[in-house]
Amino acid sequence: MKRMSLLSALLVGIVALIAFSGVGGASNMGNLVNKACSPCHSTKRICLNVGVKSEKAWVATVQRMVDAGAPLGADMVAPVASYLAGMAPGSGPVCD
Ligand code: HEC
Repeated sequence: MKRMSLLSALLVGIVALIAFSGVGGASNMGNLVNKACSPCHSTKRICLNVGVKSEKAWVATVQRMVDAGAPLGADMVAPVASYLAGMAPGSGPVCD
């Protein structure tokens, strides 16, 4: 019986993990940016440019970071650039 409830707790945990790690929602995108964009410099470097760079400029920047080794798939460059271009300055989870 105890074994059974442990197993179902594990299952619920896995399902929750999958639900929260899926790409799509704005906060998921923010978490992705936090993860992919902080190994080399602080996200402050990004936040200084939020509300400044156009989406086109962000595409160029994100592509340059990917070329430099940012762990981001090529198919995520445009979505990340669009997320950064649309982000309100000082908003989370990247810049709060
Ligand atoms: C592999 C290391 C690395 C990763 C990962 C990385 N960067 Fe950078 N970033 C740099 C370096 C080095 C510079 C300074 C030189 C330059 O601007 O190219 C920089 C500078 C910047 C700048 C300031 C210069 C500018 O053009 O405005 C921004 C904004 C930036 N990074 C955004 C990002 C974003 C967004 C991500 C995630 C997609 C990211 N970085 C991930 C290495 C990295």
